[in-house]
Amino acid sequence: MKKQNNLTSLFEPRGVAIIGASHNQEKIGYQIVDNIVQGGYQGGIFPINLKGGKVAGMPAYSSVHEVISDIDIAIIAVPARHVLDSIKSCTKKNIKNIVIITSGFSEIGNIAEEKQIVKIANAADMRVLGPNIFGLYSSKIKLNATFGPQDIKPGHVSIITQSGAIGIAMIGKTKVENVGLANIISVGNKADIDEVDLLEYLTTDENTRAILMYLEGVKGGHKLINTLKAAALKKPVVVIKSGRSARGAAAAASHTGSLAGADEVFDDIIKQCGVIRAETIDQSLQLCRFLASSQIPKGQNTLIITNGGGVGVMAADACEKFGLQLYDDQVDLEKTFEKVVPKFGSFKNPVDITGGASAKMYDQALAAALKNNNINSVICLGCETASFDAEKFADTVRKQDKAYHNLKPITFSIFGGEQVEQGIVDLRKQGTPIYSDVYDAVSCLGALNSFKQNKLLSQNSAIEIEINKSEIRNILNSAKKHKRSFLLAYEAQRIMDLVEVSVPASSIAKSMRQAIEAAGKIGYPIAMKVVSKDIIHKSDAGGLALDLENKQEIIEAHESIMYNCKKHVPNAHIEGVEIAEMIKPGIETIIGARRDPSFGPIVMFGMGGIYVEVMKDVAFRAYPLSRAEIMKMISELKFYPMLLGVRGESEKDIETIINTIVKVGAIITSCPDIADIEINPLVVYDKGEGAKAVDVRILLTTLQETV
Ligand code: COA
Repeated sequence: MKKQNNLTSLFEPRGVAIIGASHNQEKIGYQIVDNIVQGGYQGGIFPINLKGGKVAGMPAYSSVHEVISDIDIAIIAVPARHVLDSIKSCTKKNIKNIVIITSGFSEIGNIAEEKQIVKIANAADMRVLGPNIFGLYSSKIKLNATFGPQDIKPGHVSIITQSGAIGIAMIGKTKVENVGLANIISVGNKADIDEVDLLEYLTTDENTRAILMYLEGVKGGHKLINTLKAAALKKPVVVIKSGRSARGAAAAASHTGSLAGADEVFDDIIKQCGVIRAETIDQSLQLCRFLASSQIPKGQNTLIITNGGGVGVMAADACEKFGLQLYDDQVDLEKTFEKVVPKFGSFKNPVDITGGASAKMYDQALAAALKNNNINSVICLGCETASFDAEKFADTVRKQDKAYHNLKPITFSIFGGEQVEQGIVDLRKQGTPIYSDVYDAVSCLGALNSFKQNKLLSQNSAIEIEINKSEIRNILNSAKKHKRSFLLAYEAQRIMDLVEVSVPASSIAKSMRQAIEAAGKIGYPIAMKVVSKDIIHKSDAGGLALDLENKQEIIEAHESIMYNCKKHVPNAHIEGVEIAEMIKPGIETIIGARRDPSFGPIVMFGMGGIYVEVMKDVAFRAYPLSRAEIMKMISELKFYPMLLGVRGESEKDIETIINTIVKVGAIITSCPDIADIEINPLVVYDKGEGAKAVDVRILLTTLQETV
């Protein structure tokens, strides 16, 4: 099917027809025409109404074929039963885009008709936005083709929204919050044009400096990942996603599965893409306004100027959370602020100009920070005190915000009573990044910093490795032949051998005599585990014995494992026992990989062992990955300091962890028959001493749900 990929005609149409333009001012079909007219759009406006007449002062046509001029968009605002015919009428008019406002399609189960609409439209080289949307706004040509508010403030933030109601409300909110919009697009059912298409367009749109996406669900996540990655390298992208429930993690047969709640995976993957996630709509708008208007800092050095120690400490804590580096060259700081900081103040960052600080002192301190090229960004804090003149402070803020504008980023936070709060509202209206909460002031700078860091990180390419696919396939085929949905331990270990992930030495013993012989060869102490396709949870069935020191203990353990397992699962077919090396202690980690329904192959790494689901200290990433991305994933974890070595311990073998993540990711990517791999624990030793994959579970695709 032919599809034009360039959406320029959607955002810069020469003419717009509104099919279903109503004479009734209460109707959506009227409001859209009126918004287009009032918005100042200079292209052709063609209301289509069977009865003709005038709609919002514009002459109405009975059909698109009556219009002689070019039409690039046909907006459909007729009831669902008439939509298909309306679209058919557009096919011979060389219209480029159809924008379907009408509800009543796939969102209520009417999938077939929606598909048919797209098929007919695409066949006539028309793209479809919607259905079930409020329309779109494009500031470049002053086109307000929505039935939302009339008065939209033009600017540089573009919004893509899946929710119509939230999108319309956002338009109002942007006005209140003084956020200028470049575009706002409602995607609704995404029958044809989706976030990926729109992101591609907005990435190249020179009017757009920051992109905000409101998402509810993710379709075709793999493509979205690549587009988001590309977009976030060019412009800051902020995502707000609802649906933080643990749904989707249900029915999982592995830790990777149960920890991979839809939201956790989404959260980590958009981080991987360099996208900033906002918690609330308010926060998302604040971030976008700042990101669209602020300079990118030249370096990492952040300075806090405050008149109160408490807020200074809060800001310093927030800087750590958002990865902002506090500038700490003491000599330079003292030289810079010697004329401003009183003797009883502090030159240590946060620079404390003390509770008696006047607006003039703030002015001097901010001017000094601006002049110093070693300081790359500034957070200015103020607590209302007796000597704090809110009005004079506002003047200083205004003046300095202007002075900083083209040179370095600055954010402000003031905390106080009614007059202060009113000051914040007024300054915000004028476009100053000022907040009552310290956290908001820091998070804006943090987002800017992460946009910059992401650009640096993206310079690394993904690691590619070759694995022995045909040997792995043989093992999988044999399991499938026996109608198994999982691999037996020795099969999983064999796969680990093939990709050179170290597993404890082991062998299968079919009798007591063979068990004693194998233990002699491997060397004591020994672990013994039952081998049976009918027993998955070995310890629950009493099929596991550890730390066996000699022949006598092997004999006793063998007898008790056989007795316990037969008692626990009477009909189990027991093939024998596995005799394995007892491994020496190290740090227990978990590495997993699975095929995510939205994002395709994903890998997981975190703190392993039996408490994995209690600690939930794990991170996810879409595969493939660069070394730098894997390092970032590892360093985000709470237990990362343990890998670096705490209290005089040596650093652990992080290189082996990275290699194992890559190998497990490569297996899941190149073997579609595998649904889920999990190594838990992967016991990691000191740097240079490697790691052992103690327990490896591999689930197969076809029968996974039944395990
Ligand atoms: N060609 C041209 N005009 C037509 C037409 C056709 N095939 N069929 C109907 N019309 C005219 C009607 O005569 C009417 O004009 P009039 O009021 O001057 O007589 C106008 O189009 C609208 O038709 P009407 O039958 O009155 O529809 P409606 O306004 O009640 O509802 C929708 C139309 C699209 C608004 C409605 O079906 C709908 O889907 N509403 C939900 C929209 C929504 O919420 N979208 C998601 C937002 S996030």
